[in-house]
Amino acid sequence: MQTTIVIGGASGIGAATVGVLAAPGHRVIAADLPGAGAEAEVDVTDEASVAALVERVAAEHAGDGGLTGVVNCAGVSTLSRVVDHDVSEWRRVVDVCLTGAFVVLKHAGRHVADGGSLVSLTSLNARQPGTGLSAYCAAKAGLVALTEVAALELAPRRVRVNAVAPGLVVTPLTQPAMDIPGIREGYLENTPLGRSGEPEEIAAAIRFLLSDDAAWITGETLDINGGAHLQRYPDLAGLIDKAFG
Ligand SMILES: NC(=O)c1ccc[n+]([C@@H]2O[C@H](COP(=O)([O-])OP(=O)(O)OC[C@H]3O[C@@H](n4cnc5c(N)ncnc54)[C@H](O)[C@@H]3O)[C@@H](O)[C@H]2O)c1
Repeated sequence: MQTTIVIGGASGIGAATVGVLAAPGHRVIAADLPGAGAEAEVDVTDEASVAALVERVAAEHAGDGGLTGVVNCAGVSTLSRVVDHDVSEWRRVVDVCLTGAFVVLKHAGRHVADGGSLVSLTSLNARQPGTGLSAYCAAKAGLVALTEVAALELAPRRVRVNAVAPGLVVTPLTQPAMDIPGIREGYLENTPLGRSGEPEEIAAAIRFLLSDDAAWITGETLDINGGAHLQRYPDLAGLIDKAFG
């Protein structure tokens, strides 16, 4: 039996991942912030809540394969140029996207079964800078390096540590920006395959990384972006200035 926790599982890519993974022989536990509507509550900025969730699920299923996978989809963003950036906003994004990811890998790494698989969500912005996105870009780039270090450290137990890096997927995280003139077009011009991604397309890659088909893949960040990493990110802050003056 496979048992996977999906953190950030109430919305967007996380919710799609819960749906794509659920199958006979695969138990999936969706976890998210209190009030978000997932079956389990967790806040990645609160280490005790992450530790409690991971320990509880591993203990509950210890006689049935244990905890075999953890997917961390928790993420937030903000938009502000470096020279204007509020430090508390910077810390909020880094706290969820980088420190939160570290806390998840720490406790998942302790309790996942030998041979298990951990997957984090980085972003196209880990390798492609976007104006106004300094905190998000820095956090997601840091998470790529963190994925590599954790992969080295957990390899002796055959625990694989990977990440997926989506380009634009329209979810509650990105929807607000889609109504600003020029932004959707800017993304599509940056995407050789000419469309945004579907949450299920990211979920399918996560399912692959959790599976034995990916048994020899670790320390990898998989770009899933219609080729957008080959081009230039749209000038988000410039387009927003143009729209709102
Ligand atoms: N949508 C995109 O275009 C895109 C592109 C690249 C990367 N990503 C990344 O994919 C992941 C999922 O994004 P999404 O687009 O599905 O966004 P989303 O807003 O739909 O889902 C994010 C989920 O994370 C949860 N969350 C936020 N803070 C949390 C915390 N402290 N603890 C636990 N859960 C928390 C939210 O409640 C929400 O359910 C994020 O890490 C995001 O940065 C998204």
